[in-house]
Amino acid sequence: MSRVNPMRDAWAIILAAGDGTRMRSRLAKVLHPLLGQPLVHYPVDLCLRLGVKRVLVVVGAQAEAVKQTLAGRPVEFVHQGEPKGTAHAVLQTAPALAGFEGNVLVLAGDTPLLREETVRNLVEVRTSTGAVATLLTTKLENPVGYGRIVRDRQGRLNRIVEDVEATAEERRISEINAGVYCFSGSALFEALKYVKVSRVKGEFFLPEVVGVFIEQGQKIYTVEAADPTEGLGINTRAELAAAAAFLRQRVQQLLMADGVTLLDPPTTYIDETVQIGPDTVIYPGVVLEGMTTIGAGCVIYPHCRIQNSHLEDQVTVLDGSIILGSEIAEGCVIGPYAHLRPGSQLHSEAKVGNFCEVKKAVIGEGAKVPHLSYIGDATIGAKVNIGAGTITCNFDGFAKHRTVIEDEVFVGSNTNLVAPVTVGKGAIIAAGSTITEAVPPDAIAFGRAPQVNKEGRAAATRRKRQQEARSGGPPPPDSQPLDGQGQEREAHVHS
Ligand code: UD1
Ligand code: CA
Repeated sequence: MSRVNPMRDAWAIILAAGDGTRMRSRLAKVLHPLLGQPLVHYPVDLCLRLGVKRVLVVVGAQAEAVKQTLAGRPVEFVHQGEPKGTAHAVLQTAPALAGFEGNVLVLAGDTPLLREETVRNLVEVRTSTGAVATLLTTKLENPVGYGRIVRDRQGRLNRIVEDVEATAEERRISEINAGVYCFSGSALFEALKYVKVSRVKGEFFLPEVVGVFIEQGQKIYTVEAADPTEGLGINTRAELAAAAAFLRQRVQQLLMADGVTLLDPPTTYIDETVQIGPDTVIYPGVVLEGMTTIGAGCVIYPHCRIQNSHLEDQVTVLDGSIILGSEIAEGCVIGPYAHLRPGSQLHSEAKVGNFCEVKKAVIGEGAKVPHLSYIGDATIGAKVNIGAGTITCNFDGFAKHRTVIEDEVFVGSNTNLVAPVTVGKGAIIAAGSTITEAVPPDAIAFGRAPQVNKEGRAAATRRKRQQEARSGGPPPPDSQPLDGQGQEREAHVHS
């Protein structure tokens, strides 16, 4: 018998309207990034993963930006005009939720470490006990700033007292309200009517409904989070950094459990969105960001940054390389110190080596760009060899143009390819060429000044300099024999 997912009938309210004064930022708190994602994405995505039926996000501070960051996710927005407290925020959803009797989850936009199992448990406990509400608690060594769980002598929940209103004795309570609740919808909105404004802060506090329920003689249960970090709320930059450290560890533990070797987890930064295959080895100082996927058996050497890129299996990225928005097929070797900019596509076994920059370019199967090159807006065929220092001159000062190099071309070192230009299959380009015209297949192209050798001229020049040195005094400037430019001018005139 398959069990019905109780989440499919649950609705969720995400509180994201506060401006987060304690962050001391121009950016609304829920927009601050944590491991590459704005804080508000965490509770929203968690509800979506759980399969919650409707997700209502309460927005206020920088509402447009918050809506923008959630664009594309199936959520609805409810406006809270003035941030008059968490109870007031929930009240704004009353019209949308009118008549709804089922489970209503309430999550804060600033509690990103919460886990699916924990929320599921909160719903299950409420459903199985018939309680009017369940709420998540955790015990913290430093509970400062949180609402404290006040219990009676029998250990039964009595009320929640906010830090700003707590007595010195209450402040010593280490059990805190994580700000994550599951309510019976109708009971919640009924109880909210009785929440009074805080005398200290002038706001309506959602945890006050707990006291209201208890007074009404309703059953309400607490559920303690299995992992105390799950209840961490982000109010300050220091808490943001602490949460990032916990989340980073959690992401790393999962990767290691899946067979990824991290040589130095404390210096490795991997976003939650990154996927890595087994037997891949990640060296110290590596940063993996955004929608990046890395295949199996890859090695990422120290101090590389890879963002929004796909690496297939057996790819080696040598030290100090940056890969952004690129696709790398099986067996490629990149770096050291390579920079792959967005739109780069490397086919299998390709190599982009030392101090090379690649942008919006396809590098064909087995092709090599090993040293000191710029390849931009180009298509490089299979088994092409690009000599050291080769540059695609893609920009004429006004527009960008493409370079096409067909299969098995050999490009000599220090070649300039002035785009738009095509080099036909199997052609050879002499080192030092500036190629401005199409090169036909199998041709050899020389695009450089012919060499001139002046027999004995070096020895004669040397003798002349020595005589001048003996007779003393520098020669007049226009007759300096070893001046490079003067010599070249002379060579052109006389040859
Ligand atoms: C809240 C709880 C506290 C709990 C803690 C857990 C209240 C009054 N207190 O405190 O018991 O221990 O979370 O982290 O609820 N928000 C709105 N509109 C508002 C005010 C806040 O949408 O008018 C949103 C904020 O954007 C934030 C969330 O609600 O995402 C929580 O608000 P915050 O001010 O951070 O509450 P805390 O003081 O941390
Ligand atoms: Ca908070």
